[in-house]
Amino acid sequence: MIQLQSNQSIKQHCHPATAPLILIPTMGALHAGHFSMITKAKKLAGEHGCVIVSIFVNPIQFDRSQDLDSYPRSLEQDLAHCERLGVDYVFTPSSEEFYEEDRSIDVSESALSSLLCGATRAGHFNGVCTVITKLFNLIQPTAAIFGEKDYQQLAIIRRLVRDLSYQIEIIGQPTVRETSGLALSSRNQKLSEDDLPLAPAIREGLLLAKDLYNNGERSSDRILSKFRLHLDKAAPSSNIDYLECVDAENLLKIKDVDRPAVIATAVFFGQVRLIDNIIL
Ligand code: PAF
Repeated sequence: MIQLQSNQSIKQHCHPATAPLILIPTMGALHAGHFSMITKAKKLAGEHGCVIVSIFVNPIQFDRSQDLDSYPRSLEQDLAHCERLGVDYVFTPSSEEFYEEDRSIDVSESALSSLLCGATRAGHFNGVCTVITKLFNLIQPTAAIFGEKDYQQLAIIRRLVRDLSYQIEIIGQPTVRETSGLALSSRNQKLSEDDLPLAPAIREGLLLAKDLYNNGERSSDRILSKFRLHLDKAAPSSNIDYLECVDAENLLKIKDVDRPAVIATAVFFGQVRLIDNIIL
């Protein structure tokens, strides 16, 4: 495995690919969700292709500096996992190296970014679009893998690729869960002892809501009520940041579920904000 730490070294190693070059962009603190992406990437890369994992806690996608400072970092362990899983390259730039000091251009998305998570996280998705654009330009992968847990992020990246005409295949990776149903996230390790056993209530609520839909209910209000009731009962200390039933493509709220839709939610347990979703 080769570790590349500067934009320059990436440019030397990555050229318009003749064999598959699969990128997995991460912010580190790698867990089984990332491992499943690496395993998929290895398959897609085949014998002649390469897998590259970027590990970069992107400062410009955090709206609160406290969140950035407390984001879990475990580079040594992450590198060991990548080595073990047969990753070919890891890209681990410092922020000073990655971004010019007088950087003055951002990539912004103007339709999906203000909804759901974007409503309370000003600038977050512009930060994501900017870092991903730079990674795509530096690395020039043939495909990139993103987790479906971040449904909105995945939808925005698909727009980025479509609207800026990147010839990069975007692959969604199904959410990996604890046996309790809790979606794996590097934020889970920040849950208190009391909250950890309550957090699976998010998944339970989503499954109950989907059951209702599967039994013929089409009113999004009634479907979402099912989730709220369950969370109130099973995890009374939690706080819903948002809970919406949205069109699967444009992420706009829908009243009647008469087309492909997603229930997306963000829930606070103390200071820890967890997201999850379910496709209807
Ligand atoms: O999902 C994440 O971990 C980040 O938002 C990403 C895609 C690596 C961009 O920094």
